[in-house]
Amino acid sequence: METSTGAVPRRWSPTRRRRELATALVLLLVLAQGASTGIAAAPKLASPVPRSAPGSSPVSAAAASASPSASPVPSGTPAPSASVGPSAVPSPLPWPSASVAPSPTPTPRPQPLPRCTYADVITRDRDPDDWAITFLDTVYRLPTMYGPRDLVRTGVAGGGSVRRLVAGDLRAMARAATAAGAPIQIVSAYRSYAAQISDFAYWVRVSGLAAALLGSARPGHSEHQLGTTIDVTSLGGGLPWHMWDWGTTPAGRWMRQNSWRYGFVMSYPAKGSPAKTCYRYEPWHFRYVGREMAAAVRASGLTLREYLWRERSR
Ligand code: DAL
Ligand code: ZN
Repeated sequence: METSTGAVPRRWSPTRRRRELATALVLLLVLAQGASTGIAAAPKLASPVPRSAPGSSPVSAAAASASPSASPVPSGTPAPSASVGPSAVPSPLPWPSASVAPSPTPTPRPQPLPRCTYADVITRDRDPDDWAITFLDTVYRLPTMYGPRDLVRTGVAGGGSVRRLVAGDLRAMARAATAAGAPIQIVSAYRSYAAQISDFAYWVRVSGLAAALLGSARPGHSEHQLGTTIDVTSLGGGLPWHMWDWGTTPAGRWMRQNSWRYGFVMSYPAKGSPAKTCYRYEPWHFRYVGREMAAAVRASGLTLREYLWRERSR
């Protein structure tokens, strides 16, 4: 049995018709609100995704709008996969691959020690602060104008000047030599480029070019121009190069055995000269490299030239 309500066709009920109209209006209002907030923004959110990222799937506006967390992602930055899903915004390079892995740093191959030829190549480490590692030989040289600005008197018998940073250890070494009964004196210390012109010319005059090249550095090539190098002899003794082998005198022996403790290295020792050092044996010529490096050179068993070359090509 039908009720009276059921007997009346629904479309003819004015009340229901009003309710339906009201519902439709509410729905329209809701849709209109949505258009001005979330839904209209969807195409914007899709824009940070690279359109043609290799291997990436295209991202639909719907997928992007489905993720509310997509909006804080800065332009151009792929969204975190957790919020969007791995298929939506893949990282352009999701995994390290063999082709992009950083290649291992190649181990520098030590350069062979240059031959002792004659050339004028301005040395690489030529800043006055590089005094300990400045590489000099018959090929590599200092600029003509190179001259230390902190020269001081040695304060040791014989006089001369050295860089301030050398003076303390030089004086300590001289005191120790005296205490050991092998006192020393300076024969030559800092020599300017101009002084080396005279020095080399002198040796060419007295011994000829070939001998001069073995015993005297051409201008620009001398360690004396660094302001860290000294020639020494026995206190009150003659010029060491006038002796058969000054290195066998008490002062010469003491210097060979102990100078490293004060930061000095014999640049042209008997072993290795001139084959490795480019100059003949000079037991009187010492270059200051600091106590630490002098100890390292000694431990290496290399001449200073070999040591410095090895260090610079590491
Ligand atoms: N006697 C050395 C090589 C010099 O002149 O510096
Ligand atoms: Zn010298």
